[in-house]
Amino acid sequence: MSTFAAVDVIAAKRDRHVLTDDQIDWTIGAYTAGELAEEQMSALLMAILLNGMTSAEIARWTAAMIGTGIRLDLSGVGRPTVDKHSTGGVGDKISLPLAPLVAACGAAVPQLSGRGLGHTGGTLDKMESISGWNAMLSPARMITALSQVGAVICAASDDLAPADRKLYALRDVTATVESIPMIAASIMSKKIAEGTDALVLDVKVGSGAFMKSTDRAAELARAMVELGAAHGVRTTAMLTDMSVPLGTAVGNAMEVAEAVEVLAGGGPADVVGLTLALAREMVDLAGLDVDPADVLASGAAMDSWRAMVAIQGGDPDFVLPEPKERHVVTAETTGVVTHLDAFAVGVASWRLGAGRARKEDPVQAAAGILCLAKPGDSVVFGQPLFELHTDTPDRFAPALEDLSGALELAPPGTAFAQRDLVIDVIRR
Ligand code: URA
Repeated sequence: MSTFAAVDVIAAKRDRHVLTDDQIDWTIGAYTAGELAEEQMSALLMAILLNGMTSAEIARWTAAMIGTGIRLDLSGVGRPTVDKHSTGGVGDKISLPLAPLVAACGAAVPQLSGRGLGHTGGTLDKMESISGWNAMLSPARMITALSQVGAVICAASDDLAPADRKLYALRDVTATVESIPMIAASIMSKKIAEGTDALVLDVKVGSGAFMKSTDRAAELARAMVELGAAHGVRTTAMLTDMSVPLGTAVGNAMEVAEAVEVLAGGGPADVVGLTLALAREMVDLAGLDVDPADVLASGAAMDSWRAMVAIQGGDPDFVLPEPKERHVVTAETTGVVTHLDAFAVGVASWRLGAGRARKEDPVQAAAGILCLAKPGDSVVFGQPLFELHTDTPDRFAPALEDLSGALELAPPGTAFAQRDLVIDVIRR
C-alpha cells in the first residue's frame, strides 16, 4: 500500500480537494494501527466537517473502516436477514417489539445495539433491566440464536469495524461528531460488517434527535442509503419525528414494560404505529409476503420475544425493578396539550439516573419519566402530567427544572393537528 505524509492528506482536504482512494485507505489503516497521530487525525476530521466529502470519498472511507475488522457471514441462519438502526431518540424502545415481530414474520433480525449516552437511551441498557439477560454474545452464539429464534439484541463485538471505536471517541472530543459523512460512515460500517442482507434506517428528526432539521436528516439518510447499496445491503431510510417522546415511558425498565404491552396487543398508538411501519418496510426488504399487524395480533411476536429473552439468559416471566421514590407533576391549569419537548424529557430522565454522563457510569434501571399527557390530550387542573421515578430523590429538583416549560398547554378547545410520525421514506 502507498504511504503518505499525514500533513499532505490534511492539506488536501483543507484545500477542498477530493481525497484519493489510496490516501483514504492509508489514513484509516495508519490511524487504526496507531501510526497516525491523534492531533493529525483531529485536524483531518475538522477539515472533513468543514469541507465535506463526495459520495465516492464517503464510500471509500466506509469500506476502509469495514476492512479494519471482520465481516460476519450470516448465510447459515436459513432465513433472510434484515436489521433496523435508529439514529437515537427519547422513549425510542421500538427495537424491543420490532425485532421479535419481524422474526415472527419469518426473517432473522441481527439487532446489534448500543448503550445510551447523553439524553438518548440505549437498547442494551433497557434490555439489561431484565435480570439474567446477557448482551454479550460471540458471533457463533449470535448465529445460533438467529437460527433458533430469528432475533437477537446484543452488543457489537470489538472486531466489527474497530476503526469506528477510535474515530468516534476522537470525534466526541474534537467537536466533529456532527459531520454527516462521518456519521454515515460510522453507522454503516458497523451495519455492513454485521452481515445483514437488508437494513431499514430510522433517521430521527427534531429536538430529541441528533438531526434537528429535516434537510440535514434527509442528507444523512441519502448518504446511508447510497452506502448500503454500494455494499450490496438493500437499504431504506425512514425520516421520523422526534420532537415529542415516543410513547408514555422514558427510562430503561419502564420502556421494557411498554414494549411488552405492545407485544401483548396494547401500548401507546405512536409506538404501535411506528413499530408496524418499520416492520412493514423490513418484511418488504426481506421479500416476505406477510402483514406484521396480523402477526402481532396473533401473539406470535410475543412468543418470539419470550424465546429471544430466554436464549440470552433472561427469565421470560421477569419482574422489572421498581423505583425507590416517585414524584408526580400535575397540571396548573385546564387546557389542551400542544407540545411536549423530547429533548427536555430526555435530559430530565437522564438526570433521574436513566442515562450516564460517562461511558463507564452505571444506569438506574428503574429511573425515568412517565409522560401521562401527550400533544392533543385535554387535561384538567390537578391532573397528573408526569410521574418521575428514581432511586436517588436528590435528583428530583434538577429533573423538575429541566421539565419546566417542556409541556405547552393552550386554552380548552384550542384546535390541534397531530404531526405525522413518518415524515419521509428514502429508497434508492
Ligand atoms: N451513531 C453512530 O454509531 N455513529 C455516529 O457517528 C452517530 C450515531
